[in-house]
Amino acid sequence: MAKREIKGDVILFPAPVVLVTCVDKNGKPNIITLAWAGVICSEPPMVSISIRPHRYSYLLIKEEKEFTVNIPTVDIMKETDICGTVSGRDADKFNLTKLTPEPAKHVGSPLIKECPVNLECNVKETMLLGTHEIFLAEVIAVHIDESVMTPAGRIDYAKAKPFSYNWGEYWSLKEKIGCYACSKK
Ligand SMILES: Cc1cc2nc3c(=O)[nH]c(=O)nc-3n(C[C@H](O)[C@H](O)[C@H](O)COP(=O)(O)O)c2cc1C
Repeated sequence: MAKREIKGDVILFPAPVVLVTCVDKNGKPNIITLAWAGVICSEPPMVSISIRPHRYSYLLIKEEKEFTVNIPTVDIMKETDICGTVSGRDADKFNLTKLTPEPAKHVGSPLIKECPVNLECNVKETMLLGTHEIFLAEVIAVHIDESVMTPAGRIDYAKAKPFSYNWGEYWSLKEKIGCYACSKK
């Protein structure tokens, strides 16, 4: 089949959907939904997030230099969409969505209780790329809810129920089809 060339867009999927929390200088928390996020280093463990400078969360993260990344389940897809379509300038998104803030251990930004996996992050570098500024951050702690862990201490994705963002659409994971280095067996 013929392939159609598309210019001026980034079509790289699946992109993770994450809920990032941040705080203002008084400790008031906000949540922003992001899809431009990813793992960028194993040692030290680091992630990146890219945010448009006019977002309210951008100002908070730029100022406080910390955030948490929370991985939502399909059960809170609507709340996740709200956090990505309402600004913290206009509403308290914890109040609006009824998501529950929990104290983190190392940063002031709260964890989100309903998300089974949470990462605490300290910003190391930023770079304005164009429409978005990338934040490179060290992951200083990861929390995994035991309810989504296998007996071997891995994540049971059927229980963690993450979802992805694919060019404007949310898609859930379907099934496990292999594992790392299975081609060698
Ligand atoms: C699925 C999804 C992914 C998003 N990804 C990003 C992103 O990677 N970067 C960004 O700047 N905005 C992204 N947004 C938009 C922000 O989440 C949205 O503008 C939000 O309301 C900003 O909130 P704030 O003003 O409280 O910071 C995304 C929205 C959705 C729904």
